Amino acid sequence: MDSLILHGEKKMYKISILGTGYVGLCTAVCFADKGYNVLTSTYNEKNIKLINNGIPPFYEPQLEEMLKRVVQTGKLEAIYGREKAVLESDISFLTVGTPSKEDGSIDLKFIKTSTQEVGKALKQKRDYHLVVIKSTVVPGTTRKIVKPLLEKHSGRKIGIDFGLAMSPEFLRQGRSIYDTLNPDRIIIGEYDEKTGSTLVKLYKEFYEEKVPKILRMSLASAEMIKYANNAFLATKISFINEIANICEKIDNSNVDLIAKGIGLDDRINPRFLKAGPGWGGSCFPKDVKALIAFSERLEINPMILNAVIEVNKKQAEQVVSMARQELDELKSKTIAILGLSFKPNTSDIRESPAFKIIDHLLRNKVKIKVYDPQAMENTRKHYQEKIVYSKNAIECITDADCCILVTDWNEFQKVLPKTFKAKMKTPILIDTRRLYNSIEYSKVIQYKAVGMM
Ligand SMILES: NC(=O)c1ccc[n+]([C@@H]2O[C@H](COP(=O)([O-])OP(=O)(O)OC[C@H]3O[C@@H](n4cnc5c(N)ncnc54)[C@H](O)[C@@H]3O)[C@@H](O)[C@H]2O)c1
Repeated sequence: MDSLILHGEKKMYKISILGTGYVGLCTAVCFADKGYNVLTSTYNEKNIKLINNGIPPFYEPQLEEMLKRVVQTGKLEAIYGREKAVLESDISFLTVGTPSKEDGSIDLKFIKTSTQEVGKALKQKRDYHLVVIKSTVVPGTTRKIVKPLLEKHSGRKIGIDFGLAMSPEFLRQGRSIYDTLNPDRIIIGEYDEKTGSTLVKLYKEFYEEKVPKILRMSLASAEMIKYANNAFLATKISFINEIANICEKIDNSNVDLIAKGIGLDDRINPRFLKAGPGWGGSCFPKDVKALIAFSERLEINPMILNAVIEVNKKQAEQVVSMARQELDELKSKTIAILGLSFKPNTSDIRESPAFKIIDHLLRNKVKIKVYDPQAMENTRKHYQEKIVYSKNAIECITDADCCILVTDWNEFQKVLPKTFKAKMKTPILIDTRRLYNSIEYSKVIQYKAVGMM
């Protein structure tokens, strides 16, 4: 490891990324685009073919053009399994999924199997190797589970033969590439000083003149930061959603103005104060649940976190009850849903509020029509023939009794009030994101928005 590999004039570490999801593939592509030789490893043969042909297995802005470029220059290759990836690199980042178990606690099965494979590969390695956990894992995982598995399967000693770090990822889907290249800060949890300084060196090389603030700490503190971060953001959204629900009962109130007003207090700040249909996605729900389960094991009752989840569960019902109020009876009505992904600029539908709203409506025997710019394929896999799929927003709202805008994709802004009026059976619009101008739209159609009266 000390003898860095020479590429042209620059000495650069060789990188392997284990796991090719949002975090893995975006990290891999960014390293490769900066000139690092990157191997990205998965057990999914279909994804290997796609990636090596320059086709991302999921939608993320900028990803496709960058992937094509780095595949063409030969800087990135996707390979099967972990062995070659570890043997032919200096630093391995573990980015595998850490889903929830039935009881909400973290499921570490992919972390464990991948760690075993890394350990077996390390057995064959002579040079120092650095293993970095980037997946979100509950405090204690890196030291109490990853370290012993690596030592057992490699027969080698941490601190001497290999280093171990936990460096949580904070990228946001929909802007994964931008966030990877421009993080607010870097957190390094380190087993020992050599591990930490090796990783600092890599990050400094990677970010060159734009090195973000780097904080070094224990493995457990780094693990906990990721959970505290996501739990705090989820709390902020549940908080403003609760305020939005109150606003709906106050004449002439608008939650966006409340958010702006409190956001100008720099102890609060305006970001993540956007009321809506509730939070979803691949991280907040599972991470808040995992933190609750983790706390309960420590005999702590996490009252705030439980309330954050409860408020979020109710938010989809709140949207449905707005529709019920406007339509009197839901049964046999046709409702158009605009936006299915859990937020704009992603095809990811995991824990999307749109799905919670659709499920409620289906239970009420509503006919559902849907449209989303990127998430149609994933939605079709989930609902199959239970709902109707439209080719665009206009087709979706045509002949509907009510439209619920769930995900605020930019392109939905182009649907004018006169179009809602002309195309819908009854022009009722429930805008869960306040995407439209309430004054203009209210003049032409029946316009209702979350957080406004
Ligand atoms: N998505 C985000 O916005 C985000 C942000 C920060 C941190 N994280 C964390 O990073 C980690 C990865 O998240 P992601 O969104 O990239 O996940 P993902 O679901 O997109 O991908 C997970 C990857 O895990 C690997 N995997 C799946 N099944 C496997 C198996 N049987 N054996 C071994 N590996 C397997 C695959 O490479 C898969 O692509 C998680 O811990 C997540 O909490 C995610």
